Amino acid sequence: MPAIAVHTIGKSILFGEHAVVYGYPAIAVPIPDLQTTVTIFPLIGEKQETIIYEAPDLGTAANLSDLPANHVLGKAVELFKQAYGIQKIPSFRLKINSQIPVASGLGSSASISVGIIKALSQFLGLKLSVQRINELAFELEKLYHGTPSGIDNTVVSYEQSLWFTKGQEPEFLRAPFPFHLLLINSSIPSLTAESVAAVRKERENDPVRVNGLLQEIGDLVIIAKEAFSEGNLVELGKLMVKNHALLQKLHVSLPELDAIVNLALEKGALGAKLCGAGRGGNVIALVREEKVHDLQQTFMAHGYQGIVHTKIQ
Ligand code: PMV
Repeated sequence: MPAIAVHTIGKSILFGEHAVVYGYPAIAVPIPDLQTTVTIFPLIGEKQETIIYEAPDLGTAANLSDLPANHVLGKAVELFKQAYGIQKIPSFRLKINSQIPVASGLGSSASISVGIIKALSQFLGLKLSVQRINELAFELEKLYHGTPSGIDNTVVSYEQSLWFTKGQEPEFLRAPFPFHLLLINSSIPSLTAESVAAVRKERENDPVRVNGLLQEIGDLVIIAKEAFSEGNLVELGKLMVKNHALLQKLHVSLPELDAIVNLALEKGALGAKLCGAGRGGNVIALVREEKVHDLQQTFMAHGYQGIVHTKIQ
């Protein structure tokens, strides 16, 4: 049996992060310019169920039996065994290579979760629907993030811009023409679970204020959906700035993220906001095509590295 390689993509949340955890809608977009590759090499002649996990980017190479009980690959193997009545999995080595920076709000964990599910299903000869891949990947996401909304694994599974409400099927969105986004990394790592927990705590301490902010984000996402579908970039940009201000009030921004947003706006971006969990990670900026190069140069001149340019349809 030859090796199996699958490629999965990154993602960004355009509107509605954090509020989405409490049942409000959010809009997410795929970032195909950032990819994860998951490769499975069958181990022929090894004793039954030898499973080796390699993540060279993180310096990990280990036998699954030596990894923690709640390891994502162990969980994936258990999911397949339970769901499909598999007694013993043939031996294999699984390798992960990813271009997506970890803990930066660009879907690194979702990309790995979806990639592991896709690769294992192929290895086991199962033909799974995208919906089923998404369901299984959501189980892995819970290991990374505790109580995720499911938006990350959904956009990474379907590879399309979408409108997402927790627990519901996604609705796919399409803009009338492609538009350009820049992702600028603050290089401050941030763990989604910690940021979500901080908002939850703040909501417990001050429910009226925090629920009001979450509702405002939810209302804004409804307007953004219309602007997205109409290709109204000026309106989308303004809504991004408003969304960022609401996230600031939820205390998930940082001065470093605000500085990136301000620089993007000063240099002509139509809008900018933090994306994902915040407290670090990336800022996403909506930029007219003719300004993309200038903005990239500006950010590089300010010392930002690994700026990603992507086109959304
Ligand atoms: O930072 P990311 O890419 O993990 O995005 C998290 C988005 C949140 O809304 C903060 C959490 C969630 O589960 O939806």
